[in-house]
Amino acid sequence: MLKGRNLIAPVDFSMEEIAGVLDTADRIIEDQAAFSQKCRGKVLASLFYEPSTRTKFSFDTAMLRLGGEVIGFSDPMTSSTAKGETVADSAKTVSQYADIIVVRHPKEGTARLMGRYADCPVINAGDGGHMHPTQTLTDLLTIRHEMGTLDGLTVGVCGDLMFGRTIHSLVTCLCRCEGIHFVFISPKELRMPEYVKHAVRESGHQWEETTDLEGVIPKLDILYMSRVQRERFVSEEEYLRLKDYFILTPEKMALAKEKMIVMHPLPRVNEIATAVDDDPRAAYFRQVKFGMYVRMALIMALLGVE
Ligand code: NCD
Repeated sequence: MLKGRNLIAPVDFSMEEIAGVLDTADRIIEDQAAFSQKCRGKVLASLFYEPSTRTKFSFDTAMLRLGGEVIGFSDPMTSSTAKGETVADSAKTVSQYADIIVVRHPKEGTARLMGRYADCPVINAGDGGHMHPTQTLTDLLTIRHEMGTLDGLTVGVCGDLMFGRTIHSLVTCLCRCEGIHFVFISPKELRMPEYVKHAVRESGHQWEETTDLEGVIPKLDILYMSRVQRERFVSEEEYLRLKDYFILTPEKMALAKEKMIVMHPLPRVNEIATAVDDDPRAAYFRQVKFGMYVRMALIMALLGVE
């Protein structure tokens, strides 16, 4: 039962609970009109302390398409945070108005803290370099649709593995599937954090680490590209040195399996050449749409709407 729960990290839900959300998303995809009034009279508060296009619009649209209403801010300086209010007090206060809260914050752990104080469900829409569970639900729905399964896949994650929260979320969640082979592709400076590697080791899945995208691309079923997370770097010089380390081009795509898919949480900066967009294996814009459907399903589940 997901009613009234928070979603801060993907592991907060069992794989059965996640499958249930994905199944609801499938039903929404089949007949969206049947869901258009499901959240009538409900209010979602979206509190974005950090920039976002997709995630905020995706949540807002999801609630609107369920017949609900949306309040919130995307610039914390227009909220009481500017007066020094703590996030705990903000959560408590906003939950007196809203039925469900979505929060994005630059500090790891803030969503968990707000979940503790709010009187309604809280969804983490990204906390610093830590987790981004609704991107993971999006990714899982995309993989299920495009590959027909979540098991037995060779999954390459490429780019900024150190700061990429979408990657930490996805990898820790896929650890609970069957027979995954992980390939971590990054510059040495941006390797996967130890806590994620630990989760992979504990799960018993195979994994390898490399700096050579071209060398491993032929064996991948999924190539998950990511942006180098400029805002999390201490040194701009270091960012500039690493930002174009990997660029996926049609030449590299020619080495990949015919059935491989390319995913990306977006925004893209330079890591996928636009010439790849027309390749049918480029799934990243299809992925955006799956994100809206899965958020509709998640909102319904946490609000206990049948
Ligand atoms: C991601 C994020 O915010 O972590 N974007 C998103 O939510 N789709 C990825 C990123 O910013 O690189």
